[in-house]
Amino acid sequence: MLVRTATEADWDKIYPFFKQIVDAGETYAYPEGLSSDAARALWMPPSPWLTVVARSGAGDATPGSGIAGSATMGPNRPGRGAHIATASFMVAPHAQGQGVGRRLGERVIEWAGATGYRGIQFNAVVETNTAAVHLWKALGFEIIGTVPGAFDHRRYGAVGLHVMFRPL
Ligand SMILES: CC(C)(COP(=O)(O)OP(=O)(O)OC[C@H]1O[C@@H](n2cnc3c(N)ncnc32)[C@H](O)[C@@H]1OP(=O)(O)O)[C@@H](O)C(=O)NCCC(=O)NCCS
Repeated sequence: MLVRTATEADWDKIYPFFKQIVDAGETYAYPEGLSSDAARALWMPPSPWLTVVARSGAGDATPGSGIAGSATMGPNRPGRGAHIATASFMVAPHAQGQGVGRRLGERVIEWAGATGYRGIQFNAVVETNTAAVHLWKALGFEIIGTVPGAFDHRRYGAVGLHVMFRPL
């Protein structure tokens, strides 16, 4: 699997799974029904932010290949908080559970270390998102705390949001 910097041309392949994941209402607090342009502005901000895509297979013409997931990363806070990074991840539902998220997480850790960040903070990991919580713990993140009831989950109602942190 290749993880590379995303280009504008990739957005049309990212937006369908971005929309599917946000509209599912289980993992992200982005507004539902965002237009493609509004979603792109959130997911592909300008430098110092970096957006990457994970590609599986040999090329788009090969069955099962194409963009399987994406991550976006940058400073968690401006100014005096800018030495801590943050990141967001989305793996296309058909490609979940096959190691794509782990590969993207590893890439974010590599990038943040190489860029000189001192740690990585995830601000809003939904406590019922067992795959994400499991994966981030496996990659060295710990739960700093949980904001009770901060996420309105489509199926479970008010659930907590974890702040997770990994020093670098
Ligand atoms: C969370 C997400 C990024 C994980 O990516 P993924 O490609 O599905 O996960 P991976 O295949 O890399 O699996 C990573 C680990 O999680 C585990 N895992 C996967 N699905 C799981 C589940 N439903 N429950 C528990 N663990 C799970 C895997 O077993 C693996 O652990 P292991 O290596 O110890 O066996 C992806 O599922 C996703 O995009 N979900 C929707 C959006 C989202 O939740 N983004 C993250 C917000 S914090």
